Amino acid sequence: MKVSVIKKAESSKYKNLVLFSTHSESKGKKIIKISCDNKEILKHVDRDFQNKTYSSAIGSHTIYRHLDLGMFENVLVIGLGEKSNIKPESFRLAGGHLTKQLEQWKIDQAVVDFSKDTNFVRRPLHIAQAFVEGMALSHYMIEDHKSQPKPKIVLNIDIAHEKSSIFNKEVSAALAIAEATNYAKRLGDLPGNLMNPEILAKDVQKVTKGTKIKTTVWDKARIKKEKMGGLYGVSLGSGNDPRFIIMEYKGAAASKKPIFLVGKGLTFDSGGISIKPSASMDEMKYDMCGGANVIGAIMAIEKLKLKVNVTALIPSSENMPGSLATKPGDILTQRNGKTVEVLNTDAEGRLILADALSYASEQQPAVILDMATLTGAMVVSLGNIHTGVYSNDEKLVKKISAAAKISEEKLWNMPLVEHHTTDIQGVFGDLRNIGASRGAGSATAAAFLKEFIGEDIPWAHFDIAGTAWNAGDRLSYNPKKGATGSMVRTLVEFVKNF
Ligand code: BES
Ligand code: MG
Ligand code: ZN
Repeated sequence: MKVSVIKKAESSKYKNLVLFSTHSESKGKKIIKISCDNKEILKHVDRDFQNKTYSSAIGSHTIYRHLDLGMFENVLVIGLGEKSNIKPESFRLAGGHLTKQLEQWKIDQAVVDFSKDTNFVRRPLHIAQAFVEGMALSHYMIEDHKSQPKPKIVLNIDIAHEKSSIFNKEVSAALAIAEATNYAKRLGDLPGNLMNPEILAKDVQKVTKGTKIKTTVWDKARIKKEKMGGLYGVSLGSGNDPRFIIMEYKGAAASKKPIFLVGKGLTFDSGGISIKPSASMDEMKYDMCGGANVIGAIMAIEKLKLKVNVTALIPSSENMPGSLATKPGDILTQRNGKTVEVLNTDAEGRLILADALSYASEQQPAVILDMATLTGAMVVSLGNIHTGVYSNDEKLVKKISAAAKISEEKLWNMPLVEHHTTDIQGVFGDLRNIGASRGAGSATAAAFLKEFIGEDIPWAHFDIAGTAWNAGDRLSYNPKKGATGSMVRTLVEFVKNF
């Protein structure tokens, strides 16, 4: 997708024009407004909207085909909804919707009239960024494993605004973030036979070649040598070996402590010996989305040339039942020396993350953020609307919430107290990998991870089990079914302000 910013939408240059509609109420009367700089078109379009023939609701659109005004061939009006409710997210949704319509109509070029939109919200830069993000996120498909793939059109979009030059930075940032997110989505969507730890590591090495990200990959022997007993133990049931992926980006002085991003890269989770039921087991190919999304985040951070030091760690493994697989009752020794009784081999994410968190803690990090599709309990508590965040530091939660407010990804701060820690104390080992009492499964998982965070290190854990995968069409820019790249935008925003 190509996006440029121009000053004015001129009909001599473009065939297709995109406008926005909003509504408001004054003295019981509904007033519809169309954003358009061209008086003649506005007159024509406005009449239909004032007659209530067409809707300005969010998610709605109207197309004027072959408009006989001797100008643009097609005019598309996208609804932004109630004027007082308009946020950058309204534009993100509008952008997502627009891409889908253009693809459906096989229109690959359009100019979007943003000229009047500064009247809608006070943050024109944010709306431009959100709009382009929505368009680019929506312009994602994974058709390469169909014998007759849908052809992908390359969208060429111009955004018209009188102060076009101030938009350039936001538009290219939006594209960089969305493209990195789409890369992460693809990793999550690829099935286990086409995306295993070895393939993941090779792909990451390939895409970071020639960038400022240095990628190092540890194989099974190195993982064992480095005493990563959790990652090693989880991998034993599979014929596909594990990998530990280290991605380093140095955008600031070496003296500046790095931010660590840690992501669960479980390329397929069958549950292992504590095998999962077959219904929806296919979806466990997305158990690597924590890893995929931190990969996407660091790629975007590098593209934006942010002046920070960031290291992403991705412990990657399959979780399979096999003759050598870890069994219930087995005791594993993690990198920091703590021993764990594996009472359920399906609680594997915390075992592979524990080694990565220990490793991160050794590197004198400024902060550690981890992300994982960690628990089914998270899906039960927050569904696919909010990501649950656990932390040992209130100030950090505030910073993360501030970032999420700007990125407009929904977060919910979850409780983590000493009772959760009590629940994961072991009998035959130091810890047990599942809680001893019923309920609060996401919190006991978080309490387990906390055991591997070094003293005084601010840490937050994002459980994206519900938000990493989409089912339904709540957000126009997300696929109806598939990986969403959740929290990439929030991580980038957080790092930007760190
Ligand atoms: N990957 C799953 C969690 C998950 C479930 C993610 C559903 C997305 C959707 C994780 O490895 C797991 O299996 N967790 C267990 C833990 C339990 C055994 C304590 C779970 O949540 O059932
Ligand atoms: Mg599991
Ligand atoms: Zn898992």
